[in-house]
Amino acid sequence: NGRQRHGIPGTDFDPVRPNTADAVTIPEGYRQDIVIRWGDPVLPGAPEFDFANQTAAAQEQQFGYNNDFVGLIPQDPIGWFNLLVVNHEYTSEPQMFPAGSYDRDNPTAEQVRIAWAAHGLSVVQTVREFGGGLRVLPGRHNRRITINTGFELRGPAAGSRYLKTSADPTGRKVLGTQNNCAGGVTPWGTVLSGEENFHQYFAHGERVTDPTQRERLARYGLRGGETSRKWERFDKRWDVTEEPNECNRFGWVVEIDPHDPHSTPVKHTALGRFKHEAANVKIAEDGRVVVYSGDDERFDYIYKFVSSGRYKKGQSRHARRHNSALLDEGTLYVARFTGDSPAGEIDGSGTLPSDGEFDGTGEWIPLASGNKSFVDGFTAEEVYVFTRLAADKAGATKMDRPEDIEPNPVNGRIYAALTNNSDRGAAGKDAADEANPRTGNRNGHVLEWEETGGDGAATSFSWRLLLVCGDPAEADTYFGGFPKDQVSPISCPDNVAFDGYGNLWISTDGNTLGSNDGLFSVPVDGRERGHVKQFLTVPVGAETCGPVVTENLVLVAVQHPGEGGTPADPLSHWPDGGDAQPRPSIVAVWRQGWWGFPGRIGCR
Ligand code: FEO
Ligand code: CA
Ligand code: CA
Ligand code: CA
Repeated sequence: NGRQRHGIPGTDFDPVRPNTADAVTIPEGYRQDIVIRWGDPVLPGAPEFDFANQTAAAQEQQFGYNNDFVGLIPQDPIGWFNLLVVNHEYTSEPQMFPAGSYDRDNPTAEQVRIAWAAHGLSVVQTVREFGGGLRVLPGRHNRRITINTGFELRGPAAGSRYLKTSADPTGRKVLGTQNNCAGGVTPWGTVLSGEENFHQYFAHGERVTDPTQRERLARYGLRGGETSRKWERFDKRWDVTEEPNECNRFGWVVEIDPHDPHSTPVKHTALGRFKHEAANVKIAEDGRVVVYSGDDERFDYIYKFVSSGRYKKGQSRHARRHNSALLDEGTLYVARFTGDSPAGEIDGSGTLPSDGEFDGTGEWIPLASGNKSFVDGFTAEEVYVFTRLAADKAGATKMDRPEDIEPNPVNGRIYAALTNNSDRGAAGKDAADEANPRTGNRNGHVLEWEETGGDGAATSFSWRLLLVCGDPAEADTYFGGFPKDQVSPISCPDNVAFDGYGNLWISTDGNTLGSNDGLFSVPVDGRERGHVKQFLTVPVGAETCGPVVTENLVLVAVQHPGEGGTPADPLSHWPDGGDAQPRPSIVAVWRQGWWGFPGRIGCR
């Protein structure tokens, strides 16, 4: 009848072409708008952004820098009102102050306090507009969490001798969270957020002489010397020779209850301490809560936690408290992957083995449960606080930088982005294996696994690579078996999300293929499995974070637009244009439907 063959629901749009524009580009028929930018008011009465005259007092009430995770929590059945929860991973000081006013070697006390206030998280009330956009309201839920916000350490390592400092002899109260990367919304309506590259904030590891402490600092990357931000000059807690345990109080999964603006956020020690990229929940067959989390470092690991107690449905205050407390008691595991092809067929080239797939089986190795350790030479509290060293000993599989990990709500399988690892197979480093099959992996891959019986609490699984990313014209790429002449090129997968049809959406960070980063959709089942399509691109220098994909809305966080620039040479002027400095911002994208109302994403 002359109609074009339609794509499958959720991914039926005309892909955007790779480009290097200083703009967010979206498919034909879609619209976009900025939701909130660095410096926009969050708390009621907050001052408007004034780039030339920024103060710490203003920044504490305004949207922070370098937005990463985005959570959208509906407050009504049709999603009219939503709480928007966003992380502010880190600060890029040379871009945050007018030309000539920031000296990297000598930041002022006020500039450092601005950076403290620009870290953390923001919670804002939003309303969906008739035309499709998302508008921020000055609601009572609006909140800023910063380096100065009080957190409670909970779980089996709370109160540990490794967590006590002169400011907190209890080892249970921490000021602030930093380097919050990806995260997840829990089924009970709170947000989990991973503290990732916390090591970069701590100075003078080189002065530590105790060999055990030196080994621990080295394994977590606390290299020594002054830090790039020089915070240690303004608060001694950032100097490990002054406060040796302060660094142990970061690197956790934190939980925020956005429904209660007066709640004390939590750091969950039962989930282990490493460079948590994110944390996402699956409910096991018997109701136990399973949390997946990756450690984003070359040759680091994938973990999961399984609670002892059972999930209680709902998002009432009672349910939120009950379910949050489940994360205090359970078992922490690390993953070991075994390939099913002869080792000789995995040569680091990315050529598919003779069975046609990079795949195999795996097991979850228990590390600790409550106060019981399963690792020789480690007490339970040492497993939780120095998790990387315990996982080394347990023989976990060294992965190519595990970033976001998320269970697919439709097919129940788990998906992990392994962003890249240029050191794979280098001299003195681990060689390629079937789960990380390329030497000098520049473009990353996407891993899919199925817990035995589909049960999140299982201790074994089967796995396969869904995507081996890169230029589809190159022989070392694989797109789930889909014809490669029909896919969008994709490089350096970072964050993952699912739409309501179970299609995987992937945002990227660090595209090596010569164009800007972006957001991609890919069906994971049926005839279009592996059909990667680019939904949007982000401006020059930015990575794409978030994302959130609902029935009729896509949200992405545009992080570090113009990265590497300065006010004198900004590289990007997005989103304000003209000669403005770039501002990390949240962008809403929707399909223009009938009568101006938003239509379904990826449907025609
Ligand atoms: Fe903050 Fe692993 O990206
Ligand atoms: Ca195989
Ligand atoms: Ca990330
Ligand atoms: Ca990344």
